Amino acid sequence: THWRRIYNRVWIPDAEHVWKSAEITGDFHPGDDVLELLLEDGTYRYPVDPSQPKLPPLRNPDILVGENDLTALSYLHEPAVLHNLKVRFVESRIIYTYCGIILVAVNPYKQLAIYGDAIIHAYSGQNMGDMDPHIFAVAEEAYKQMARNHKNQSIIVSGESGAGKTVSARYAMRYFAVVSKSGSKTRVEDKVLASNPITEAIGNAKTTRNDNSSRFGKYTEISFDKRYRIIGANMRTYLLEKSRVVFQAENERNYHIFYQMCSCADVTEFKNLRLLSADKFRYTSMGGDITIQGISDKKDFEETRRTFSMLGLKEDFQSDVFKVLAAILHLGNVAIKSSGDEKSSVSVSSNDPHLAVFCDLLGVKTDELVRWLCHRRIVLVAETVVKPVPKERAVTARDALAKQIYAHLFDCIINRINRALQVPGKQHAFIGVLDIYGFETFDINSFEQFCINYANEKLQQQFNLHVFKLEQEEYMKEDIPWTLIDFYDNQPVIDLIEAKMGILDLLDEECLFPQGTDQSWLQKLYNYLDANPLFEKPRLSNEAFVIQHFADKVEYQCRGFLEKNRDALYEELVDTMRASKVIEFVNAANDKGVKVKPARPPVKPANKQLRTSYLVCWSTRIVKILNSYTPIDDFEKRVTSSFVRRVQSLLQDHEGSTQLMLDTDYRFQVTFPFCPSSTALESLQVPTSLHLDFLTRI
Ligand SMILES: *[C@@H]1O[C@H](CO)[C@@H](O)[C@H](O)[C@H]1NC(C)=O
Ligand SMILES: *[C@@H]1O[C@H](CO)[C@@H](O)[C@H](O)[C@H]1NC(C)=O
Repeated sequence: THWRRIYNRVWIPDAEHVWKSAEITGDFHPGDDVLELLLEDGTYRYPVDPSQPKLPPLRNPDILVGENDLTALSYLHEPAVLHNLKVRFVESRIIYTYCGIILVAVNPYKQLAIYGDAIIHAYSGQNMGDMDPHIFAVAEEAYKQMARNHKNQSIIVSGESGAGKTVSARYAMRYFAVVSKSGSKTRVEDKVLASNPITEAIGNAKTTRNDNSSRFGKYTEISFDKRYRIIGANMRTYLLEKSRVVFQAENERNYHIFYQMCSCADVTEFKNLRLLSADKFRYTSMGGDITIQGISDKKDFEETRRTFSMLGLKEDFQSDVFKVLAAILHLGNVAIKSSGDEKSSVSVSSNDPHLAVFCDLLGVKTDELVRWLCHRRIVLVAETVVKPVPKERAVTARDALAKQIYAHLFDCIINRINRALQVPGKQHAFIGVLDIYGFETFDINSFEQFCINYANEKLQQQFNLHVFKLEQEEYMKEDIPWTLIDFYDNQPVIDLIEAKMGILDLLDEECLFPQGTDQSWLQKLYNYLDANPLFEKPRLSNEAFVIQHFADKVEYQCRGFLEKNRDALYEELVDTMRASKVIEFVNAANDKGVKVKPARPPVKPANKQLRTSYLVCWSTRIVKILNSYTPIDDFEKRVTSSFVRRVQSLLQDHEGSTQLMLDTDYRFQVTFPFCPSSTALESLQVPTSLHLDFLTRI
């Protein structure tokens, strides 16, 4: 036999290309402080700390590169993953790659012709492993698991902002719509898909990273009947970024819907809203640029309105929605003047034109609103007094009101959509699609990023839990020989955030103190959390803290945390708003004081079927490949020793297919499709498709 040699090539970090390939040219001995390497452009002495030698990650043999499943790689680490994805994308324009049960997608930033009905039909009924990786393969797998094995399913779409999550979630839902056509009457599936323009108009905005960034999380549950046809859908949203309504960073925009409406300011039917160009409203002009290249807000608005009608949301509901949105814009322009120095009281002119429009649109009393913007009621033991407030507080109250109205409107619209998406009939099973916004780090990170990143930590934990932790516990329970995989457990970060005397606990506590400030809270964080290795005080700032998240280190500015966590809406203003006949405000009062703790993302337990497929039939069919195979020579032994030493080859017979499970040093559990002719040790052959050619039969 002839074995292909594995060259001893490695990846070294590179400032420009992130990772760069190099070839080892000399032996490395314990105690050495350099490793001799040959790079494309000459030799390089790679520094190594002799006390803790950490050698660079090894490169995979070329024959493996370009695999459609990352778990087929001998070495699975960051450079291997990036290189494999790059080769597939750059050389073959392939955006999808598997990593076991996970589908990795690269955003091509353009439309690809791979989502048509013909492709959907090609994937329908096929096995995931038999087809090229595709979002449709994942959707098909979920559909099949539901329809054949009667298990409810969830698909989680995650990734950084701009990764293409929302679009991917839409394709998955399109797939279900096409393969599970309901009777010709209801066309629920069309409605499910068609609701997107509305949620995008009211929940998406331009950020510095993405012109069309979803600023809320969305979990859509698609309901199926007994015959696995779509009968409806239900959407749950969470973590709406409310602060965007009143503040946008440079080059960012408020929610699309505001610009869509302003682009139609001169349309007769909107005359009563007294709209202006978006650059004339404070709440839509802070980012500086009110347009997005290549986007016509006017055209998108037509689409939004068409969708309202298509979902059966009546003209009067629509007109209420537009009134409320216009009112928010006018509220932002209400001028709050202080009569003298900083501390003195403020005034709002009863003749303020924007105030008049606001009150007119919502049907509330001008004088009451003015009074409660400029004053507060203080309840003492024996009496209640009304005191003027400083300007800062009046502005805060105005903005808090705007945020609350928007958030409430958002919920109302989602509720209406949900009602429109329900049809009579009993839900028999469902497939959930979770489109959560990804881990975020900006130049300035605040409470919103903190919540998003915390939610992502929880999601990552779910993932770890189901992919690694439970499985290992199972092995240990059943006494299956198994080396613990050193997976990254993010429990410590979660503890830092949510344990007793953790970040949230201290935040809630500080919010209860009347004198509490962002600063006093931050000081407590420094005091109590100083010893936590995942928490840092930045060297150059007394106004921020740093958390080492699973994905990255993020520095958060403490400013605004208390205010946003309290999410206070001043009671008197709520009372004033109650008079409004437009969109019921009753809920606004209940929301008061609700802590903005990101809800545990509604992740369903991971795909049970996949879990069991790993776990069935352990005891009977375990065959150790290592009993019959060994690495072919000393070099391979060295580069692959940890890999091979820990091969826990477990053969299991499950629905006709057999899997070989391997455990590498690199944290990932690896599964290969594996079909031996027999499970007898003597006849056991390692199939060439596994590329385990550094192994030889003893
Ligand atoms: C956002 O994406 C949707 C769907 O792809 C598209 O119709 C809309 O025009 C986009 N809007 C912006 C502002 O980019
Ligand atoms: C799936 O969800 C439906 C509706 O929520 C529920 O009635 C059913 O029991 C669930 N099925 C399983 C197998 O859990």
